[in-house]
Amino acid sequence: MQKRTIPRHIGIIMDGNGRWAEMRGLPRLEGHKRGVARAREIIETAYRMGIEVLTLYAFSIENWRRPNDEISIIMGLLEDTLKGEFNVFIEKGIRFRVIGNRERLSGELRKLIELIERSTESNSKLTLQCAISYGGRDELIRAIKKLINFKIPVHEITEDCISKLLDTAGIPDPELLIRTSGEQRLSNFLLWQSAYSEFYFTPTLWPDFTKEELLEAIYDYQSRERRFGNVCSQSR
Ligand code: IPE
Ligand code: IPE
Ligand code: MG
Repeated sequence: MQKRTIPRHIGIIMDGNGRWAEMRGLPRLEGHKRGVARAREIIETAYRMGIEVLTLYAFSIENWRRPNDEISIIMGLLEDTLKGEFNVFIEKGIRFRVIGNRERLSGELRKLIELIERSTESNSKLTLQCAISYGGRDELIRAIKKLINFKIPVHEITEDCISKLLDTAGIPDPELLIRTSGEQRLSNFLLWQSAYSEFYFTPTLWPDFTKEELLEAIYDYQSRERRFGNVCSQSR
């Protein structure tokens, strides 16, 4: 695989954990557990490939509508996983950050996230962004509030200015967005940032998404012609 055409930033909507479990007569929790194991494998693969940024959609702002017991299970899994991976991030030089609305997270989870972010902020290998309690519209509303609070003059409101007020400030836009489980929608993921992303949809449920399929998605991406509104392909 040619290094120059490997996407710098890949976003993944990790969908299908519940269906994976239900198809096997298992509780949805089992699907989420398998989902975490899969995420670990995909992070490792992205790290080895030298991908700069991997953004994983773990919990959307709309997912707060789910039954309380499922929310607790997912939040518990997130907390346990982050506690367990903290050392791995340090050892490997992974920079960890969270995008999303933190106000609804428990104080404990918020503190843990802040600690990991602070401890890994100068790491320079893979940047792992985890979207937790994230919604693209919510992120834009928070950015608009910052525009107003910072009293930014109208003539200074540019694409660049807005990008810098988003949770993803300083992170390049994703060239490739993958969604598993057969659904073909964004579900409020990276709305601003995906303006020119290439999409890869697969029926594979997230717990079955292998590193081989990640490579397939990247090969597929490499065959696309990206024009950015121009008449022939160009790099951006
Ligand atoms: C994705 O799997 C994980 C989260 C949204 C937290 P789902 O839980 O949405 O699984 P399905 O879509 O019901 O199969
Ligand atoms: C999107 O999946 C969010 C995550 C994968 C975290 P959902 O399962 O919540 O999306 P919808 O409800 O099918 O659009
Ligand atoms: Mg789903």
